[in-house]
Amino acid sequence: MSRYPLYLAPMEDVTDPAFRLQCKRFGADRVYTEFVNADALVREVNSTLRKLRFAEEERPVAIQIYGREPESMRDAAQMVEQVRPDFIDLNFGCPVKKVAGKGAGAGLLRDVPKMLAITRAVVDAVHLPITAKTRLGWDHEDLLPARHEWWSQTTGEQPFIVNLAEALQDCGISELSIHGRTRAQMYSGEADWELIGAVKNNPRMHIPINGNGDVTTPERAKECFDRYGVDAIMIGRATFGCPWIFQDIRTYLDSGGSCPPVRHPLEWCIDLLKDHVDAAIAYIGDEKKGILHSRRHFANSPALKGLHDFKQTRIALLQAETRNEVFTIMDQIVNQWG
Ligand SMILES: Cc1cc2nc3c(=O)[nH]c(=O)nc-3n(C[C@H](O)[C@H](O)[C@H](O)COP(=O)(O)O)c2cc1C
Repeated sequence: MSRYPLYLAPMEDVTDPAFRLQCKRFGADRVYTEFVNADALVREVNSTLRKLRFAEEERPVAIQIYGREPESMRDAAQMVEQVRPDFIDLNFGCPVKKVAGKGAGAGLLRDVPKMLAITRAVVDAVHLPITAKTRLGWDHEDLLPARHEWWSQTTGEQPFIVNLAEALQDCGISELSIHGRTRAQMYSGEADWELIGAVKNNPRMHIPINGNGDVTTPERAKECFDRYGVDAIMIGRATFGCPWIFQDIRTYLDSGGSCPPVRHPLEWCIDLLKDHVDAAIAYIGDEKKGILHSRRHFANSPALKGLHDFKQTRIALLQAETRNEVFTIMDQIVNQWG
């Protein structure tokens, strides 16, 4: 593994096997499944069980689970262990109301004893490495150094995440990924990497700390490794329609930051978007749903940004409902803008 590992962040409805494999082929050092609901897993809901599938070529792969009770998270982790991923990741960061509002995901940032009980229950029940992903805290008050109700006096006045990272480490997790925002921020504002760095540079931490949030360019990736010393960077939204970002960042890091930005031919990018459409249709087993699933990638691909007079074509691409229509429009794009 590289000295500068790059991971594909877990993303609901995005990091399916088709997309994970694409990112893997471009050099993602680890891929994560979308979060999998522990309760639904324990009830053996078919659509949830499907989320545990992965291809051998994806390894190392982490399957992420979420839930709000130690028992169901433990039972779900034991089920996940049977499909033999390389890691099981615990989601303590999902901010959306239907998850955090019910006390799972980032909701556990407001019930640290429960979060730690879940972590201990899972670590004790399975033999795989258990990792966790969380945010900086619940809201801005957690960003300030303060004595906090969850921790004893001995930890002193540290920001919430510094204490939390120590406590999770004490529960036996093998790595921690931190998205540099609070729950209250959702996805707004900028990710605060200073606090991620504070966790990494805490002399009491010895497990790897993976930084996450707003890494969209090779330059920013290099800066995050250099300034904050994180053990790996996890990339989320910048992968939309751009699985090659892993290769671009790797090339830049390997050159020590001296190579110029890589420009990929439009036709090459479009071919990859087409591959994803086909893979999504095959994975979902339905043409229309597969295309709907791929739209996020068309809408956000940097390959389709900044094209002169592109608006109408973009609308047509985002409205196309058959594979034939999508591919015809994509071929036109190559002819006109390639
Ligand atoms: C569409 C979408 C779905 C996401 N789903 C998950 C998820 O299932 N589990 C998780 O831990 N984080 C999830 N996240 C958060 C990302 O993993 C990541 O922490 C966040 O996008 C910040 O990283 P970025 O700035 O590189 O995108 C999701 C984010 C997006 C945009």
